[in-house]
Amino acid sequence: MDLEVHQAEMGYDTVDISPLAAHELFTYDPGFVSTAACSSGITFIDGEKGILLHQGYPIEQLAEHCNYVRTAYLLLHGELPNDAQYQAYAGDLAERALVRENLSKVIESFEQSAHPIAKLGATLYALAGIYHHEIDIRDQKNRYYVACQVVAKMPTLVAMCYRHGQGLEFLQPREDLDYASNFLYMLFGEVPEPVIVEAMDKLLILHADHEQNASTSTVRLSSSSDTNPFAAIAAGVAALWGPAHGGANEAVIKMLEKIGDVKNIPRYIERAADKSDSFRLMGFGHRVYKSFDPRANVIRQHCQDVLATTNRTDPLLDIAQALEQAALENEYFVQKKLYPNVDFYSGIIMRALNLPENMFTLIFALGRSSGWVAHWNEMLSNPYKIGRPRQLYSGPKQRDFPAG
Ligand code: CMC
Repeated sequence: MDLEVHQAEMGYDTVDISPLAAHELFTYDPGFVSTAACSSGITFIDGEKGILLHQGYPIEQLAEHCNYVRTAYLLLHGELPNDAQYQAYAGDLAERALVRENLSKVIESFEQSAHPIAKLGATLYALAGIYHHEIDIRDQKNRYYVACQVVAKMPTLVAMCYRHGQGLEFLQPREDLDYASNFLYMLFGEVPEPVIVEAMDKLLILHADHEQNASTSTVRLSSSSDTNPFAAIAAGVAALWGPAHGGANEAVIKMLEKIGDVKNIPRYIERAADKSDSFRLMGFGHRVYKSFDPRANVIRQHCQDVLATTNRTDPLLDIAQALEQAALENEYFVQKKLYPNVDFYSGIIMRALNLPENMFTLIFALGRSSGWVAHWNEMLSNPYKIGRPRQLYSGPKQRDFPAG
């Protein structure tokens, strides 16, 4: 049997194994370590060289010269917007930021202390209930407006989840503020300082997309049944929540607090390297990056800048830097090619912005919403099949139900 090899624009070529089933063979690849689940032109990662490109643009350049709304436009449309396109897109987002009154009731039905990401998932399902009959996923224009609704409403929903947890009144979005300023205003009730706006905007850019990670793949897989896109985004949030994925930023801070002092670092490094101990260094390691995560480099620098310009100190930054250094010099981490990832320093920035730990993954979700809708739109703009993996069966052979 001859199998076709598809040439990648960059990165690994892929073997088309779809004819195997006709020969009564499947491939077996738990965790999709060697499987390209789709063809995509949005984001490229070279894990050996530590390169991350969105539509060809390096993440370092986007973080320095772009803003989040431009990045979201780039992911969705494939090109950076000109001024008129940018104004139109920013306007489309601003005018959709308001959510209906009954969304408040959804959030208020939760205990105040419930994890805010559970509240966020529920509000996305509520949006699926509101926007269902009018959605035509086959219509490109309609898809654009759905994509706008998601990116526009996420800041409002995330801010509502935060304020409910704090026992504060919800605030209406302000059309006169830019995207990140409006979000910060809805969180804290004050028009933020430019340095804080920049810090938030950069965080959102750095989380915007990361090709076929678990949450984006979940959005794609659930969307492949032609489900309601808001429901698919809620599924993406569920996948993101776990500590192996977007929940790692919260887990990093808990870990740094537990370490408590630079002098305790060797003990924790030892535990992380001990196979009989389930402890892992949170914010370290990545399925794809085997040299460094370029987002972590930008975030480390950004973290130092934010603390310096806001005149803050955070003892956790000293522990984090010493921990990174110790891990990078440790044989286990070197041999397994484990480096800090995006989540290692992002929590320290979010602490400096006065966000509680349980909000960190919601900020990740807000940033990633632009990537999720871009992948959803890309999938629906091209021929696709419902995602339906097969299995290596390991249960009992056929047998008869016991008589009597
Ligand atoms: N601490 C200690 N050992 C580790 C770590 C870690 N953080 N990460 C991986 N390893 C070891 C692991 O035990 C395994 O060892 P062995 O080969 O002896 O079995 C080896 O390194 C490979 O790890 P893996 O779990 O098979 O790799 P994976 O690609 O399946 O998992 C990962 C990647 C990110 C889930 C994992 O590195 C991890 O759990 N890291 C900590 C959680 C974290 O920071 N997650 C955020 C990921 S980046 C942002 C995002 O995607 O949201």
